[in-house]
Formats: sequence, structure tokens, C-alpha cells
Amino acid sequence: MSDPLRPRASLRTAVVWDVLKDALERRVKAAGRDALDVLDTGGGSGNFAVPVARLGHRVTVVDPSPNALFALERRAAEAGVADRIRGVQGDAHGLFQVVERGGYDAVLCHGVLEYVDDPAEGLRNAVGALRPAGTLSLLAAGLGGAVLARALAGHFTEARRALTDPAGRWGEGDPVPRRFTAEQLTELVTGTGLQVGAVHGVRIFADLVPGVLVDTEPGALDALLKLEVAAAEQPAFHSVATQLHVLAERD
Ligand SMILES: C[S@@+](CC[C@H](N)C(=O)[O-])C[C@H]1O[C@@H](n2cnc3c(N)ncnc32)[C@H](O)[C@@H]1O
Repeated sequence: MSDPLRPRASLRTAVVWDVLKDALERRVKAAGRDALDVLDTGGGSGNFAVPVARLGHRVTVVDPSPNALFALERRAAEAGVADRIRGVQGDAHGLFQVVERGGYDAVLCHGVLEYVDDPAEGLRNAVGALRPAGTLSLLAAGLGGAVLARALAGHFTEARRALTDPAGRWGEGDPVPRRFTAEQLTELVTGTGLQVGAVHGVRIFADLVPGVLVDTEPGALDALLKLEVAAAEQPAFHSVATQLHVLAERD
């Protein structure tokens, strides 16, 4: 997933990608098939769908945005995986109007629960798309990371507002409608009947470190990536992560 032309992009995706790749490998072994059926709800322009298809899996992306689906089609073609990616216009709430219930080995729900009308229902639908044995990869904005980022930027009132706001928003100008704690996300997941396998903090340091330190110091990017990976699993750091990733299975 890391893009050699955009090395800093790897900071945002490395932890999730490592966890997801391992989970898909385990699912391949358990299913006894090399190619899995993967659903990416709110998959957008294919940040994850394209690399998953490059592993040989068949990916269906459901997204309400025609622009995102257009970009997805172009990216899939450029990556040579157009035959393994299907983009469908649809919504997490009306998911089964466009995809089959119980038809997927793995479902990705990355950066979507922040935006849906009802996160519990959106997640129930994502889980409803899983086969009896299936893997859910859930990624959502973390509350503590936003509080910390606003405070370190000197926006103390906004930081306090995010901390006390029920949706974790720092103000009217906040582009993210909703953020979550690790406890809220795991509760949402267990509420669907799945078992939580692992929780990881994502972008714990990456968004706080001045770019110049990473871009100019030799070896700094690699060292920061290793630090992100080492801290990701430690519950103490979940409360300050920009995003939280939950991996869950049906059995
Ligand atoms: C932050 S982007 C994440 C895109 C992609 N999953 C990723 O990780 O790069 C949020 C995506 O959710 C989609 N979205 C917004 N509302 C949605 C809904 N109700 N159901 C499904 N997707 C939705 C948007 O169109 C957008 O592509």
C-alpha cells in the first residue's frame, strides 16, 4: 500500500494495511480459496479497495458519491485490476438494495461511521453482508486524537468543546460529523454479535509531528513508521489516536 512517490501517505495507512493484509491471509487459509469476496462500504476512490484487489481478491465498492466511483474506476484501470473491482452507487443504510446479504468473506468499513445517519444501523448492515465466517475491518475517527490536535495547534476552546461534545466535534467548522472512543467502537461491534479480535490506534504521532522533521532527517520516516506500529497495539495510546481500527470476526 505504501506509495514510494508519496512516502508520507504510508504513515496514514501502514498500520491498517498490515492488520488487514494479515487478516485476509488468515481468511484465505480458513476459506481454502485464494480469491476472497470483499465488500468495501463507503470505499470511495479505492484507497483500500485497489490494493486489496491487487492481492487477487474480488472487491465490491459501495459508495453514494458518483465522483468517488468515477475516480475508483480510473484508479482500478491504472492498477490493472479493473476486472476485480466493481463500483456500485449505494449507501450503508440501503446496503442490501445493491449487494447480497451474507455474500462476503470480508467487509471493510473505513472512515464511514463518522458520516452515516445511524452508525449502529450502518454497522449492522456491514456485518449483515458477511458470510457465516467473515472478517470486519472497521476504521473510524478517534475522539482523543482530535482533542490533542486542536490543543497542540493552540485552539484550546475547540479542544475542550470536542472533549465535551457528544459527537466529539470541535465546532461548527469541523468537517467530521462524529468521532468515537475505542470503547464506543468496540461496543458498536459487539452489539452486532461479532467478536472483537484486535483494536489498533492509527496515526498516533504522524499528524502531530512537524513535516520538516520527517522530510529532512534521514531515516526519520522509517523510524516514525516503526514507532506508529509499536504504539498502535498499546491501549494507552488508543485514547490519543487520530483514528481507531477494530478487527472483528463472526466466530
Ligand atoms: C473519508 S471517506 C473514506 C473513503 C475510504 N473508505 C477510505 O478509507 O479511503 C468517506 C466515504 O464515505 C462515503 N459515504 C458517506 N456517506 C455514506 C453512507 N451513508 N453510506 C456509505 N458511504 C458513505 C463517502 O462518499 C466517502 O467516499
